[in-house]
Amino acid sequence: MNKILQNILSRRSVREYKLEQIPKESLDQILLAGRYAASGWNNQSWKFIAIQDRKTLITLSDALKQSILNFDSIDDENSHLHYLKKRAESAYDLFYGAPTLVIVTGDKDNYMSRDDCALATGNMMLMATELNIGSCWLNQLVNFTEAPEIRALFDTLKIPENYNIYASLALGYAAKDFKKIIDKKDDVIEII
Ligand SMILES: Cc1cc2nc3c(=O)[nH]c(=O)nc-3n(C[C@H](O)[C@H](O)[C@H](O)COP(=O)(O)O)c2cc1C
Repeated sequence: MNKILQNILSRRSVREYKLEQIPKESLDQILLAGRYAASGWNNQSWKFIAIQDRKTLITLSDALKQSILNFDSIDDENSHLHYLKKRAESAYDLFYGAPTLVIVTGDKDNYMSRDDCALATGNMMLMATELNIGSCWLNQLVNFTEAPEIRALFDTLKIPENYNIYASLALGYAAKDFKKIIDKKDDVIEII
């Protein structure tokens, strides 16, 4: 099979990681793949923040948990928010124990930032797969990008004030084998 297609088909979301950190050269290659994604008008109005410092990851995870718990909304027992709040109350690691987290941020004033960041994140996931590194898109930081607990960390994380978090990517070695090709919907294409 074609090498690129093989890579795309074998990428899987990994939700359990080993403690072992990924090498610097691997992280550099993953970030490079992100930087070389296409972007609307070639604006590249993104910034990637790679966090490998355990303390900073814990601070971010705690702030995220707090913002989830502080979120005031009707708490329907079956809702996704209810499920998230249960996880936020526990010792559960919202980043699945990944040793590296890449926060993908983009300029709020660029109406294509969200799309640009999604594409860059996809590139990074594929590069990670190629290096036998597991990844998982995590959306909670995206949903709480405006939360005061998260905004308070923007300075420390070197995220410009006028930026939003549009994706975050857990990276690390999978604790279990993840390279299983699974079935995906096959009735989603029309060729006319
Ligand atoms: C926009 C987007 C948001 C996602 N958010 C989460 C998330 O918050 N937590 C999570 O565990 N997986 C998340 N995922 C991963 C999906 O659940 C996963 O891609 C899907 O189940 C298909 O599995 P696969 O990635 O192994 O093919 C997200 C993926 C995308 C593209």
